[in-house]
Amino acid sequence: MPLDIANTYRHISVHPIAGTMGAEIRGADLANLSDEVFAEIKSAWLECQVAVFRDQTITPEQQIALAHRFGEIHHHPFMKGMDDYPDILEIVKEPSDSYTFGAAWHTDQMFNPKPAMATMLYAHETPSAGGDTMFSNMYAAYDALSDGMKTMLADVKTWCVGSKQSDRARYSANPVMASKVRDPGDLQTESAHPLIRTHPETGRKALYIGGHVKRLDGFTEAESKPLVDYLMAHSIRPEFTCRVNWKPGTLTLWDNRCVQHYAVPDYNERRRMHRITIAGDEPF
Ligand code: SIN
Repeated sequence: MPLDIANTYRHISVHPIAGTMGAEIRGADLANLSDEVFAEIKSAWLECQVAVFRDQTITPEQQIALAHRFGEIHHHPFMKGMDDYPDILEIVKEPSDSYTFGAAWHTDQMFNPKPAMATMLYAHETPSAGGDTMFSNMYAAYDALSDGMKTMLADVKTWCVGSKQSDRARYSANPVMASKVRDPGDLQTESAHPLIRTHPETGRKALYIGGHVKRLDGFTEAESKPLVDYLMAHSIRPEFTCRVNWKPGTLTLWDNRCVQHYAVPDYNERRRMHRITIAGDEPF
Protein backbone atom coordinates (compact mmCIF):
# COMPACT_ATOMS: atom_id res chain seq x y z
CA MET A 1 0.00 0.00 0.00
CA PRO A 2 1.53 3.42 -0.90
CA LEU A 3 2.26 5.71 2.01
CA ASP A 4 -0.80 7.82 2.54
CA ILE A 5 -0.29 10.59 5.09
CA ALA A 6 -3.44 12.19 6.46
CA ASN A 7 -1.71 15.60 6.53
CA THR A 8 -4.34 17.10 8.73
CA TYR A 9 -1.62 18.43 10.99
CA ARG A 10 -1.68 22.03 12.16
CA HIS A 11 1.89 22.40 13.40
CA ILE A 12 4.03 20.02 11.37
CA SER A 13 4.27 19.04 7.72
CA VAL A 14 5.06 15.51 6.57
CA HIS A 15 7.11 14.84 3.42
CA PRO A 16 7.44 11.20 2.27
CA ILE A 17 10.94 10.08 1.28
CA ALA A 18 9.93 6.80 -0.42
CA GLY A 19 6.86 5.07 -1.79
CA THR A 20 5.69 2.95 1.13
CA MET A 21 7.21 4.48 4.26
CA GLY A 22 9.53 7.07 5.72
CA ALA A 23 8.96 10.81 5.89
CA GLU A 24 10.70 14.00 6.87
CA ILE A 25 8.75 15.86 9.50
CA ARG A 26 9.22 19.60 9.36
CA GLY A 27 8.14 22.38 11.65
CA ALA A 28 9.16 20.82 14.97
CA ASP A 29 11.93 21.82 17.36
CA LEU A 30 12.60 18.58 19.23
CA ALA A 31 14.29 20.41 22.09
CA ASN A 32 11.13 22.28 22.82
CA LEU A 33 7.88 20.47 22.00
CA SER A 34 4.44 21.38 23.25
CA ASP A 35 2.04 18.51 24.02
CA GLU A 36 0.08 19.40 20.90
CA VAL A 37 3.09 19.20 18.59
CA PHE A 38 4.25 16.01 20.28
CA ALA A 39 0.82 14.43 19.68
CA GLU A 40 1.04 15.33 15.98
CA ILE A 41 4.56 13.86 15.72
CA LYS A 42 3.45 10.63 17.42
CA SER A 43 0.53 10.27 15.06
CA ALA A 44 2.61 11.06 11.92
CA TRP A 45 5.30 8.62 13.07
CA LEU A 46 2.75 5.82 13.42
CA GLU A 47 1.67 6.54 9.85
CA CYS A 48 5.12 6.81 8.27
CA GLN A 49 7.04 4.31 10.52
CA VAL A 50 10.35 6.13 10.04
CA ALA A 51 10.29 9.81 10.96
CA VAL A 52 13.25 12.00 10.00
CA PHE A 53 13.88 15.40 11.61
CA ARG A 54 16.56 17.63 10.12
CA ASP A 55 18.74 20.38 11.64
CA GLN A 56 17.94 19.62 15.26
CA THR A 57 20.11 20.86 18.12
CA ILE A 58 19.48 18.75 21.19
CA THR A 59 21.56 17.96 24.25
CA PRO A 60 21.77 14.40 25.62
CA GLU A 61 19.37 15.45 28.40
CA GLN A 62 16.88 16.72 25.83
CA GLN A 63 17.16 13.54 23.77
CA ILE A 64 16.49 11.45 26.89
CA ALA A 65 13.53 13.66 27.81
CA LEU A 66 12.13 13.28 24.29
CA ALA A 67 12.49 9.50 24.45
CA HIS A 68 10.63 9.44 27.77
CA ARG A 69 7.64 11.05 26.08
CA PHE A 70 7.31 7.89 23.97
CA GLY A 71 7.86 5.48 26.87
CA GLU A 72 10.40 3.97 29.23
CA ILE A 73 14.01 3.62 28.07
CA HIS A 74 15.11 0.14 27.03
CA HIS A 75 18.73 -0.72 27.89
CA HIS A 76 20.66 -2.98 25.56
CA PRO A 77 21.53 -6.22 27.38
CA PHE A 78 24.93 -6.59 25.66
CA MET A 79 26.01 -2.96 25.24
CA LYS A 80 26.85 -0.34 27.90
CA GLY A 81 25.52 3.18 27.56
CA MET A 82 27.68 6.30 27.96
CA ASP A 83 29.35 6.83 31.33
CA ASP A 84 27.52 10.13 31.87
CA TYR A 85 24.32 9.05 30.11
CA PRO A 86 23.68 5.31 30.57
CA ASP A 87 20.40 5.70 28.62
CA ILE A 88 22.36 6.59 25.48
CA LEU A 89 24.40 4.11 23.47
CA GLU A 90 27.04 6.06 21.58
CA ILE A 91 27.67 4.37 18.23
CA VAL A 92 31.10 5.26 16.90
CA LYS A 93 33.04 4.17 13.86
CA GLU A 94 36.55 5.48 13.24
CA PRO A 95 38.16 5.58 9.76
CA SER A 96 40.41 2.65 10.70
CA ASP A 97 37.51 0.41 11.88
CA SER A 98 36.26 -2.33 9.60
CA TYR A 99 33.29 -3.35 11.78
CA THR A 100 30.08 -1.32 11.50
CA PHE A 101 27.55 -1.71 14.31
CA GLY A 102 24.14 -2.64 12.89
CA ALA A 103 25.32 -3.65 9.40
CA ALA A 104 22.84 -6.51 9.02
CA TRP A 105 19.09 -6.35 8.52
CA HIS A 106 17.46 -6.61 11.92
CA THR A 107 14.94 -5.17 14.32
CA ASP A 108 16.23 -3.98 17.68
CA GLN A 109 16.55 -6.46 20.53
CA MET A 110 14.22 -9.01 19.01
CA PHE A 111 15.84 -11.57 21.30
CA ASN A 112 14.27 -9.92 24.37
CA PRO A 113 10.88 -11.10 25.66
CA LYS A 114 9.79 -7.46 25.27
CA PRO A 115 11.83 -6.09 22.33
CA ALA A 116 12.48 -2.37 21.91
CA MET A 117 9.40 -0.59 20.58
CA ALA A 118 11.28 2.25 18.92
CA THR A 119 14.78 3.53 18.29
CA MET A 120 15.82 7.17 18.20
CA LEU A 121 19.17 7.88 16.53
CA TYR A 122 20.72 11.35 16.56
CA ALA A 123 23.69 12.18 14.34
CA HIS A 124 26.66 14.08 15.80
CA GLU A 125 29.39 13.35 13.23
CA THR A 126 28.74 11.91 9.78
CA PRO A 127 30.84 10.92 6.77
CA SER A 128 30.93 13.31 3.82
CA ALA A 129 29.12 10.60 1.81
CA GLY A 130 27.73 7.18 2.75
CA GLY A 131 26.91 5.86 6.21
CA ASP A 132 23.17 5.93 5.46
CA THR A 133 20.67 3.75 7.29
CA MET A 134 18.22 1.68 5.26
CA PHE A 135 14.78 0.66 6.51
CA SER A 136 12.28 -1.91 5.31
CA ASN A 137 8.53 -1.85 5.83
CA MET A 138 7.24 -5.02 7.49
CA TYR A 139 3.56 -4.15 6.93
CA ALA A 140 4.29 -4.06 3.19
CA ALA A 141 6.26 -7.30 3.43
CA TYR A 142 3.30 -8.99 5.14
CA ASP A 143 0.73 -7.54 2.74
CA ALA A 144 2.72 -8.81 -0.26
CA LEU A 145 2.69 -12.44 0.90
CA SER A 146 0.24 -14.78 -0.82
CA ASP A 147 -2.92 -15.78 1.03
CA GLY A 148 -1.53 -19.33 1.22
CA MET A 149 1.66 -18.14 2.92
CA LYS A 150 -0.25 -15.83 5.29
CA THR A 151 -2.46 -18.74 6.37
CA MET A 152 0.47 -21.12 6.77
CA LEU A 153 2.47 -18.64 8.91
CA ALA A 154 -0.43 -17.29 10.96
CA ASP A 155 0.40 -19.20 14.16
CA VAL A 156 4.12 -19.80 13.67
CA LYS A 157 6.61 -18.51 16.24
CA THR A 158 10.31 -17.82 15.76
CA TRP A 159 13.23 -18.30 18.14
CA CYS A 160 15.27 -15.13 18.28
CA VAL A 161 18.76 -15.21 19.75
CA GLY A 162 21.23 -12.50 20.81
CA SER A 163 24.83 -13.11 19.84
CA LYS A 164 27.21 -12.12 22.61
CA GLN A 165 30.18 -14.35 21.78
CA SER A 166 30.20 -13.65 18.08
CA ASP A 167 29.62 -9.95 18.78
CA ARG A 168 32.79 -9.87 20.89
CA ALA A 169 34.82 -11.40 18.05
CA ARG A 170 33.36 -9.11 15.39
CA TYR A 171 33.64 -5.98 17.51
CA SER A 172 37.42 -6.31 17.76
CA ALA A 173 37.44 -4.56 14.37
CA ASN A 174 35.89 -1.55 16.15
CA PRO A 175 37.65 -1.00 19.50
CA VAL A 176 35.23 1.68 20.75
CA MET A 177 32.20 -0.59 20.29
CA ALA A 178 34.17 -3.57 21.67
CA SER A 179 34.80 -1.57 24.87
CA LYS A 180 31.05 -1.25 25.39
CA VAL A 181 30.21 -4.96 25.27
CA ARG A 182 28.91 -6.14 28.64
CA ASP A 183 27.73 -9.37 30.18
CA PRO A 184 23.92 -9.48 30.08
CA GLY A 185 23.83 -11.23 33.47
CA ASP A 186 20.39 -12.71 34.11
CA LEU A 187 18.71 -10.78 31.29
CA GLN A 188 16.95 -13.07 28.84
CA THR A 189 18.61 -13.01 25.41
CA GLU A 190 16.62 -15.72 23.64
CA SER A 191 12.88 -15.44 23.07
CA ALA A 192 10.06 -16.86 20.96
CA HIS A 193 7.87 -14.37 19.09
CA PRO A 194 5.03 -14.56 16.58
CA LEU A 195 6.28 -14.44 12.99
CA ILE A 196 3.22 -12.38 12.09
CA ARG A 197 2.60 -9.75 14.73
CA THR A 198 -0.17 -7.24 15.20
CA HIS A 199 0.93 -3.69 15.85
CA PRO A 200 -0.58 -2.73 19.23
CA GLU A 201 -1.32 0.86 18.17
CA THR A 202 -2.28 0.67 14.49
CA GLY A 203 -3.83 -2.83 14.56
CA ARG A 204 -2.00 -3.68 11.30
CA LYS A 205 -0.27 -7.00 10.72
CA ALA A 206 3.48 -7.05 10.10
CA LEU A 207 6.00 -9.71 9.20
CA TYR A 208 8.22 -9.89 12.31
CA ILE A 209 11.55 -11.15 11.08
CA GLY A 210 15.18 -10.04 11.26
CA GLY A 211 18.74 -11.23 11.66
CA HIS A 212 18.14 -12.49 15.20
CA VAL A 213 15.71 -15.18 14.01
CA LYS A 214 17.45 -18.52 14.23
CA ARG A 215 14.65 -21.01 13.57
CA LEU A 216 10.92 -21.58 13.62
CA ASP A 217 9.45 -22.97 16.82
CA GLY A 218 8.51 -26.64 16.42
CA PHE A 219 10.56 -27.02 13.20
CA THR A 220 14.09 -28.40 12.83
CA GLU A 221 16.86 -26.03 11.74
CA ALA A 222 16.99 -27.77 8.36
CA GLU A 223 13.25 -27.28 7.88
CA SER A 224 13.32 -23.70 9.12
CA LYS A 225 16.28 -22.42 7.11
CA PRO A 226 14.77 -22.30 3.61
CA LEU A 227 11.65 -20.58 4.90
CA VAL A 228 13.52 -18.11 7.11
CA ASP A 229 15.94 -17.34 4.24
CA TYR A 230 13.01 -16.84 1.85
CA LEU A 231 11.19 -14.54 4.25
CA MET A 232 14.34 -12.52 5.02
CA ALA A 233 14.99 -11.99 1.30
CA HIS A 234 11.32 -11.15 0.72
CA SER A 235 11.23 -8.72 3.66
CA ILE A 236 13.94 -6.44 2.23
CA ARG A 237 12.68 -6.12 -1.33
CA PRO A 238 13.73 -2.66 -2.58
CA GLU A 239 10.14 -1.51 -3.06
CA PHE A 240 9.53 -1.90 0.70
CA THR A 241 12.50 0.25 1.70
CA CYS A 242 13.53 3.81 2.35
CA ARG A 243 16.98 5.22 3.04
CA VAL A 244 18.06 8.00 5.38
CA ASN A 245 21.15 10.04 4.65
CA TRP A 246 22.54 11.62 7.80
CA LYS A 247 23.93 15.06 8.49
CA PRO A 248 24.93 16.32 11.94
CA GLY A 249 21.64 17.32 13.56
CA THR A 250 19.50 14.68 11.84
CA LEU A 251 17.36 12.66 14.26
CA THR A 252 15.44 9.61 13.04
CA LEU A 253 12.86 7.69 15.02
CA TRP A 254 11.79 4.27 13.77
CA ASP A 255 9.17 1.78 14.87
CA ASN A 256 10.76 -1.63 15.50
CA ARG A 257 7.31 -3.25 15.57
CA CYS A 258 6.95 -2.80 11.81
CA VAL A 259 10.42 -1.89 10.47
CA GLN A 260 13.78 -3.59 9.94
CA HIS A 261 16.92 -1.53 9.48
CA TYR A 262 20.47 -1.84 8.17
CA ALA A 263 23.44 0.48 8.78
CA VAL A 264 25.20 0.70 5.42
CA PRO A 265 28.96 0.05 5.88
CA ASP A 266 30.18 1.98 2.83
CA TYR A 267 32.37 4.73 4.31
CA ASN A 268 35.77 5.29 5.83
CA GLU A 269 35.35 8.42 7.90
CA ARG A 270 34.36 9.04 11.50
CA ARG A 271 30.67 8.59 12.29
CA ARG A 272 29.25 9.21 15.76
CA MET A 273 25.59 8.80 16.71
CA HIS A 274 23.56 8.81 19.93
CA ARG A 275 21.02 6.00 20.11
CA ILE A 276 18.19 5.55 22.59
CA THR A 277 15.83 2.59 22.44
CA ILE A 278 12.35 2.78 23.93
CA ALA A 279 10.82 -0.18 25.74
CA GLY A 280 8.10 -2.24 24.10
CA ASP A 281 5.52 -4.87 24.99
CA GLU A 282 5.45 -8.58 24.39
CA PRO A 283 4.62 -9.04 20.67
CA PHE A 284 1.28 -10.70 19.85
C1 SIN B 1 21.51 0.31 14.67
O1 SIN B 1 20.76 0.75 15.54
O2 SIN B 1 21.43 -0.84 14.28
C2 SIN B 1 22.55 1.25 14.08
C3 SIN B 1 21.96 2.08 13.01
C4 SIN B 1 22.95 3.04 12.43
O3 SIN B 1 24.00 3.30 13.03
O4 SIN B 1 22.68 3.55 11.36
